[in-house]
Amino acid sequence: MSKAITFQVQPGGELHGEARVPGDKSISHRSIILGSIAEGVTHIRGFLEGEDALATLQAFRDMGVEIEGPEQGEVVVHGVGLHGLQAPKGPLDLGNSGTSMRLLSGLLAGQNFSVTLTGDASLSSRPMRRVITPLTRMGAKIEATEAGTAPLHIAGNGTLSGLSYAMPVASAQVKSCLLLAGLYADGVTSVIEPAPTRDHTERMLRGFQYPLQQQGSKVSIRGGGKLLATDIDVPGDISSAAFFLVGAAITPGSDVTLQHVGINPTRTGVIEILKLMGAGIDILNQRVIGGEPVADLRVRSRPLHGIDIPERLVPLAIDEFPVLFVAAACAEGETRLTGARELRVKESDRIQVMADGLQTLGIDARPTEDGMIIQSGMMAGGEVDSHGDHRIAMAFSIAGMHAREPVLIRNCANVNTSFPEFIELSRRLGLNIRVTEA
Ligand code: S3P
Repeated sequence: MSKAITFQVQPGGELHGEARVPGDKSISHRSIILGSIAEGVTHIRGFLEGEDALATLQAFRDMGVEIEGPEQGEVVVHGVGLHGLQAPKGPLDLGNSGTSMRLLSGLLAGQNFSVTLTGDASLSSRPMRRVITPLTRMGAKIEATEAGTAPLHIAGNGTLSGLSYAMPVASAQVKSCLLLAGLYADGVTSVIEPAPTRDHTERMLRGFQYPLQQQGSKVSIRGGGKLLATDIDVPGDISSAAFFLVGAAITPGSDVTLQHVGINPTRTGVIEILKLMGAGIDILNQRVIGGEPVADLRVRSRPLHGIDIPERLVPLAIDEFPVLFVAAACAEGETRLTGARELRVKESDRIQVMADGLQTLGIDARPTEDGMIIQSGMMAGGEVDSHGDHRIAMAFSIAGMHAREPVLIRNCANVNTSFPEFIELSRRLGLNIRVTEA
């Protein structure tokens, strides 16, 4: 059981300075997964030493992969090749990490040993049928609870066949799960997306010299090839940068530059949405590092106004809505989000939990089935509960700057899943935040 961690934020202050946010979570997971099943030694720099990515790392150690580090973001993975993983001695505990569970389900469906995947209470309530259904059609044998949740028991029989699958939800985790299963399947596995989602798996597979075919919204992979080890430089996580993008945008007098942030176009919805709301964000020093676009992001405060968030941007900003709701509460007029039902099945029900917290702070935030309608307003102080969801805890920390009285946020231990340096970095930039442990 993790400790009860509470954040307390004093109102006021400005955000100033330059900072480098930790490595991208999605790329960190994939660097371990692909490095482990590659031939040769993969060197990773900028690895996110958060609990989620570390859960993936431990899972591969448990399957016999030699992994050095992490030490200051450096990890060395001694790949065992596509068929070199070994049966772990016990269940693989993936903690809070949906990415680990969904991506590993695909990879493990193709092994010739059996595995059980477990997670914490939040992960054990998240929907897994979205991966079980297509994997079963490929020939996998997976048992879950009656509700279609973890623990998952994957009986490896080593025989999968290719599948062409039109995903009912826009999910990079499902797409990646099937591409990883496709590495082990006979023939071709194709995934068709209803809307573009993050494409790190595709970019990184190509980086490991594994061919993929892309035709519009369809990506295809043929099983039976091999991955060749490579070096990976993980850019800063735009999902972590987002807290300071919003914090600086809504706090008069702020001026923050976030260095070396990944700006893959499948992840930059937060920048587009904030710009539509009137934010001043400059994208500086654009470059490409290891196949991923990277830039420094400078944000200065400006008055924001409410918008109807275009639905096409939803998958491209899927993890940033908790903090975007805070921006909406500070933006003149009304902001409406639709087409974001997926937020209800993240680490918490992010529509309900954010609406509850914003209402506690005095904001008119009305949850809908697939989004929220938020009116700008003065935020009072108060006590909110993050429900163990890292991004909710950080979003309300940013809200605290704008409130008239202190904001107390309960249940913040899981900030360590994605952004262990959050407190230190936000203090350095000017947030007046205190942590208590009980
Ligand atoms: C992720 C994909 C997204 C995102 C998650 C990480 C990934 O989930 O919310 O934090 O690394 O592929 P979905 O693909 O389920 O939307």
